[in-house]
Order: sequence, then structure tokens, then C-alpha cells
Amino acid sequence: MTTQNDTVPLRIAQRRRYLMCRPDHFTVSYSINPWMEPANPTDTAKAVRQWQALHDAYVALGHQVELIDPVPGLPDMVYTANGGFIVDGRALGVRFRVDERRGEERPFMDWFAAHGFEVVEPVEVQEGEGDFLLVGDTILAGTGFRSVGDSHRELAEVFGREVVSLRLVDPRFYHLDTAITVLDPVEGPTGVERANIAYLPSAFDEASQRVLAERYPDAIHVSDADGAVFGLNAASDGLHVFVSPRATGFAAQLEERGYIPVPIDLSELLLGGGGIKCCTLELRGGAR
Ligand code: ARG
Repeated sequence: MTTQNDTVPLRIAQRRRYLMCRPDHFTVSYSINPWMEPANPTDTAKAVRQWQALHDAYVALGHQVELIDPVPGLPDMVYTANGGFIVDGRALGVRFRVDERRGEERPFMDWFAAHGFEVVEPVEVQEGEGDFLLVGDTILAGTGFRSVGDSHRELAEVFGREVVSLRLVDPRFYHLDTAITVLDPVEGPTGVERANIAYLPSAFDEASQRVLAERYPDAIHVSDADGAVFGLNAASDGLHVFVSPRATGFAAQLEERGYIPVPIDLSELLLGGGGIKCCTLELRGGAR
């Protein structure tokens, strides 16, 4: 799947393999981020419909979607990005910061083991692909709200890759995947193109902003308005970018660069403080 014209770079969609969890038990019964208001009603059927649209969009564009069974009493399990971090068939499990989500740790690790992944039990507190993003060969790792700094050292040991620590400073953007979108999941086809990102500069402290500016001079800087509607909580296959329909400025920036925005509305899941990327865990390598 490719698209090309004279003014924008060639973008190539690469088939991804994702783990998702149907939000059958979704609700907001506790508050562990500024988006969650237990007093506001949630509509589980609507959450399921919206989630299904994301699932179906992935499948329609050629991606493989695996499912983990939702567990009653674990309403946040739909946010599978927090279930682990997987590279080359090795799955590092998670240790949630908050007790409310610790019940998810074992079901995710069991799923990875049952599906042929080598499971590594985590020691330090970290919340998986919510805070760890693979960009080319490098892992960007967030801290400040959920994952602790020591988990970044553990991450480097487990995967033997370069880990770049970034500090989040705005409580609305408490996981790294709420402030950075990985646009190119792998390096370009010729190996010359660098994997690129989009990000919300104001979500990071000054030192991290400098690191990002230096490493990603061509990154898309997303506006505060698009960040505030969770525009950066998006998933990309290298060509299609699955993104909130409310992030209209970001969608225009993507089009200018030759990406195709695929709008998916997860307004109901935003009541839990999650969006498209939160509902998506990438499975890299391992048995199929
Ligand atoms: N209610 C969940 C929490 O606060 C939302 C998780 C969102 N996940 C993500 N990858 N950003 O833990």
C-alpha cells in the first residue's frame, strides 16, 4: 500500500500486529488521571461500538488484531498499551503504579506466554507501551507520572537497546503515548529515512524538549489544542495514521507530509483518559 506525488515523501504502510481488549466491562469507577470523573455516567455499549470501529479499521487496512479476554472488575483493561512492551518476540510485563490496575498484570503476562512470547517479569514500576515507544532502533521512555526512572534502566537491560528518558510535566499527558505519536514504526525502506515522530512540546520539561528537538529535527510539533483532545494518542502504520477526528490541525499537518489520517472517534473511552493508542499494543516478533 503506497501513495506518491511530487511534493511529499513516499509513505509505505507496513502490516502491524496489535493486541486489543473489547471494553465489555468499561466504566469509570475510580479516578487515577485528570480525565476520569466517576460521577459522570459512562455508556459501555457506546464504548464497545467505538472500540469496534477502531478494530475494524485496523483489519480493513490489512493489520492483524489479536484479542485478550476482558476481565470483570478491571475496567481499564481496554487500554492494552499498558499491558506490556514487546520487541523481537520478548514481552516485558508491567507493574502498575496504582493498585486499581494491578489485577491486569498477570492476565497480560499469561496471554503473552500462551502466544509464544518470551515473558520477562518486571521489577520496577512501569506501564508498558503507554510510556515506552519504539522509534526505529531506539526506545523513548517516559517518566514523571507513572513509570519510574529506574524502569528505563531495566528496559535497556532487557532489550539491549538505546533508551532515551523523557520527563512529562503536564498531568493531562501522564503517559508518553499521550504526548508523542510514532509516525514511522520502522526505519524507511532504503534505510536512509529516519523514523519520525509528532509531539506536544509543552508536555515535556525543558531538558526533554531539547533532546527531542535535537534527535527529531523533522518532527511534527502539534498544537496545544490538538494535544488537549488527545490527538497525539494515535497509531501509525507508516502511511495511515489512526487519529481523533477532533485533532483537525494535526490531521492537516499529517496530510502535508504524505500521511493519510484515518479519523476514529473514541470519545467514550476518553472518559477513562485513553484514546486510540492506549487501546492498541503492538506485538513485534514471536510466534504467530
Ligand atoms: N484509565 C487508564 C489509566 O489511567 C487510562 C490508560 C491510558 N493508557 C495509555 N496508554 N495512555 O491508567
